[in-house]
Amino acid sequence: MVGLGSMADVPKDLLAQIKHLEEIFTVPKERLDKIVTKFVKELEKGLAKEGSTIPMNPTWCMGFPTGHETGTFLALDMGGTNLRVCEIHLPEEKGEFDIIQSKYRMPEELKTGTADELWGYIADCLQQFIEYHHEGEKLDKLPLGFTFSYPATQHYIDHGILQRWTKGFDIDGVEGEDVVPPFEKALAERGVPIKLTALINDTTGTLIASAYTDDQMKIGCIFGTGCNAAYMENCGSIPKLAHMNLDPELPIAINCEYGAFDNEHEVLPLTKYDETIDKESPRPGQQAFEKMIAGLYLGEIFRLVLLDMHEGKHMFEGQSIDKLKKPYSIDASNLSETAELMRTQFNLQCNKPELELIRRLAELIGTRAARLSACGVAAICKKKGYKTAHVGADGSVFNKYPHFKARGAQALREMLDWPEKKSKRDADPVEIMTAEDGSGVGAALIAALTLKRVKEGQL
Ligand code: GLC
Repeated sequence: MVGLGSMADVPKDLLAQIKHLEEIFTVPKERLDKIVTKFVKELEKGLAKEGSTIPMNPTWCMGFPTGHETGTFLALDMGGTNLRVCEIHLPEEKGEFDIIQSKYRMPEELKTGTADELWGYIADCLQQFIEYHHEGEKLDKLPLGFTFSYPATQHYIDHGILQRWTKGFDIDGVEGEDVVPPFEKALAERGVPIKLTALINDTTGTLIASAYTDDQMKIGCIFGTGCNAAYMENCGSIPKLAHMNLDPELPIAINCEYGAFDNEHEVLPLTKYDETIDKESPRPGQQAFEKMIAGLYLGEIFRLVLLDMHEGKHMFEGQSIDKLKKPYSIDASNLSETAELMRTQFNLQCNKPELELIRRLAELIGTRAARLSACGVAAICKKKGYKTAHVGADGSVFNKYPHFKARGAQALREMLDWPEKKSKRDADPVEIMTAEDGSGVGAALIAALTLKRVKEGQL
């Protein structure tokens, strides 16, 4: 909150602006409750029917690891900024993993380039990795867990039809297609000795990696460039799989893809800034929830508000805001250093009251994101009837945005009506905590679980 001392220095006009921002960016408990009520229904709809707003994608990752998974696996994570390749050795007995990894920059142009360029670039990186770490060795094909963190329809664990690009990707000719054949073709063309064993989502990897070390783990979440969660469902509770006659007790990880929640714009408290972000994104009308929460968009919301303040003649009078006009020029991770950011990146001098508004704005945007994020977690807990749970979370917003964890925990407390704590030190019944490495260890574990099922003739 703005301290009383500093408020006294803020001129009336700016004070009115701060008040207005507080009104439009604050999400009170009543609104959270309304959001969760719809959220639970939407999760259920997604399990019932293909093509629902929240896709609830079955991942064919059947159950948690036992701790006896073993072997050597490659893991590839195609993130928004980096491509990470790991080689992971899972020990015979649960314990420390051996892991080597390399990171490759993912050129920005690739996100809007052609499919051939994308697969070619990824295959080149894998080839480099193998050549560097296995120079001169004669290798059998190494099994790979590929973390492909976009919504995909999977009929098997080693294939996936991209439903739609998210997180600003916009590459023609991939949506509606199975991504594995062109990926494997690019590997074959280069003679890279790798066999894709499992295509996984980052949330599923996070869930599995975290459950390996914590048996209370029930949900894996990403609050990063995108926002999403995965959890275990029983096959018997997934009406859209009924025709397959699976054992109703069999657990299967569901990748919710709940970034798409409320694409109908019924319950989310959208501001005009959120509407602009949506309109100007490569996929308007999609990922409504994600666009209010995820790291890709938080800096942009902040930038749009400041531009608006300038146009309304409330801020930066007489200064050039040219640099601030560049879309997506603010990284969410810089929002904790706003004064510095204004000066160094945008060449803007702020007086004290302006700084006060800027600081408060960053706080409001972050608080809104944390409170909305908690709605997804609360909805899964309500749907599953979890009274207690550990939730493994990863991603730049969760790890770096100041106070994100505490604000999310506060929102959960408001929504899940927990009894008063006896002591301050007591853990919350549902606790969102730092996850284990999902796209490395998680991908390797899922590849290992898959190979085990193949061996046992279950696949
Ligand atoms: C986007 C993707 C989803 C991913 C999330 C976090 O929502 O569609 O697959 O899990 O971002 O990276």
